[in-house]
Amino acid sequence: MSAAPAPKGAAGLAGGSRIPRHVAIIMDGNGRWAEKRGLPRVAGHKAGAEAVRRAMQSAVDHGVEVLTLYAFSSENWKRTSEEIADLTGLMRFYLERELATLHKEGVKLRLIGDYSAFGPDLVARLDRAIDHTATNQRLTLVVALNYGSRAEIVAAARNLAEKAVAGDVDAQMIDEDALAGELQTRGLPELDLLIRTSGEVRLSNFLLWQAAYAELMFVGTLWPDFAERDFAAALEQFAARERRFGGR
Ligand code: FPP
Repeated sequence: MSAAPAPKGAAGLAGGSRIPRHVAIIMDGNGRWAEKRGLPRVAGHKAGAEAVRRAMQSAVDHGVEVLTLYAFSSENWKRTSEEIADLTGLMRFYLERELATLHKEGVKLRLIGDYSAFGPDLVARLDRAIDHTATNQRLTLVVALNYGSRAEIVAAARNLAEKAVAGDVDAQMIDEDALAGELQTRGLPELDLLIRTSGEVRLSNFLLWQAAYAELMFVGTLWPDFAERDFAAALEQFAARERRFGGR
């Protein structure tokens, strides 16, 4: 059987380039990193935010086009109100401190997930950051905030159903591209590489549709320890893997 055509966006890879266009990371292990040091969990999240800067820099240095980070899942609301306040406070601080650098580095910010849940102040800051960086082209940084993949797929299906009922879409014509076009990741290149840190081997409701053909990497490193060399090692492993997209 001949190899199935590579999904759109990954075609460049099949064509020879071994740098993934789109890398996503489930940043896990902040709490354990802090616990190992006898520190409060917030110290782990602070160190995790530093690791975010390093990952972004690595992505820029290696020519990755899109870096998607799972910063807050829809399940994270189950954490204590103190930890939620710490996490949102960190995001606010980080946005404030890093926006100019992001812009200077040519990073465009995009969000997935229902971030309206974070309240008007943070929403306004996030929207400003999105507007401010909208024309940048070096790296698209997609931050998943209050994100859940199943909810994203349900919303996409609902949109298509409404369009079909309104007569704007022929239900018989709904295909993968139509559904992908309703997801919050629409327009981004296909996900090539998904990394999860801290030794957990789960997708935890992250990019379930988008990961259909992605290479999955589960590394033992706790997120705050994830360094430039770990990012480079993941890209090296990616380059060494043979991607078949369902072919032989
Ligand atoms: C998982 O570690 C990490 C998170 C729930 C949040 C990720 C947040 C950051 C890296 C910091 C802020 C982010 C930005 C974009 C500025 P965990 O707490 O689940 O760790 P554990 O499994 O060891 O308890």
